[in-house]
Amino acid sequence: MLKDSFNREIHYLRLSVTDRCDFRCFYCLPRSHREFETPDEWLTSDEIERIVGQFSMLGVKHVRLTGGEPLVRKELNEIASKIAALPGIEELSLSTNASRLAQFSEPLHSAGVRRLNISLDSLDEERFKQITGSHLQPVLQGIDAALDSGFHPIKINMVVMRGINDHEVEGMVEYCLDRGLTLRFIETMPVGEGGRSASQHYLPLSEIEARLRKRYTLQPAAMRGSGPASYFQIDDSGLVIGFITPQSQHFCDTCNRVRLSVTGDLHLCLGQEDRLELRPMLRSGASDETIRQAIRDAVMRKPERHNFNEVPEAILRPMSALGG
Ligand code: GTP
Ligand code: 5AD
Ligand code: SF4
Repeated sequence: MLKDSFNREIHYLRLSVTDRCDFRCFYCLPRSHREFETPDEWLTSDEIERIVGQFSMLGVKHVRLTGGEPLVRKELNEIASKIAALPGIEELSLSTNASRLAQFSEPLHSAGVRRLNISLDSLDEERFKQITGSHLQPVLQGIDAALDSGFHPIKINMVVMRGINDHEVEGMVEYCLDRGLTLRFIETMPVGEGGRSASQHYLPLSEIEARLRKRYTLQPAAMRGSGPASYFQIDDSGLVIGFITPQSQHFCDTCNRVRLSVTGDLHLCLGQEDRLELRPMLRSGASDETIRQAIRDAVMRKPERHNFNEVPEAILRPMSALGG
């Protein structure tokens, strides 16, 4: 069992398999960003298998593949199959922009990925282009393919930004109702230059909740997942919506997760800089027990919480470096 100094149990590992992305969502990966990691710095699929194996021995049960965009990593299926086969890993999930899902949803499902979270901030082609720098249609096709492949639940992530897409909330509810998708609204976080530029559009999700309550009855609901969302059922539709409120109501006291970057840095908190470099240990012949002890020690240093509100300029790395 991995426990931190605040008695929080860590059983969820977010694994970034690339820091690259085929989109440029302005709140995550600004167009000016150039400093990508080079392939010799990426953990190989064998190194990932070994490290995740150590985490599973320490009690991690849920692994989420993230990026950048995880589907741009060529070995993604191989990585997914290796992780799915590890004893102790009960759930393997993926966060994606869905641009390549029409092609890859079947092989991913065969590799053992069972749950998908998909970013979708707008259903309007023009606005989608402004936010992401890319096209909406392949994403909608990707979502349809994921539904056909049998992923369940599929969660749609919408970062709600005032003056950009906040008027689309009701339309997004209808889109998700029609397809049996779970919809989550997310507050912007000031991570990296992109995240800070989005802060001027920050909108507390209590406003969206109040708006939806005028139209629908919202009843607290349970939903599979390990993340920080709080969920409600809409009327008796079976549609579940979630609110992710890192700024207005931080959820750090129930944190259960750590993050591993593509270069093998173990980040203890999304909103802090402290990390442990695991790649040098892997590449200098450290034993499994030495690696597990280093992970245990690092987790004991996990910070209590983020400081997004007090020090919004603190985190320089772009969100894409860890995939949220
Ligand atoms: P499940 O609950 O297992 O479905 O996944 P998840 O919500 O953890 O994953 P996803 O990648 O879809 O993340 C949704 C949003 O939650 C993203 O904006 C993440 O940055 C945010 N998020 C996830 N974990 C944390 C966290 O530990 N701290 C903060 N501040 N935000 C987080
Ligand atoms: N603030 C809030 N959410 C963000 N995401 C990326 N950058 C930010 C940010 N600055 C979200 C993406 C994706 C999820 C994994 O993280 O929209 O859905
Ligand atoms: Fe956990 Fe840090 Fe996220 Fe808070 S900000 S929930 S402590 S990772």
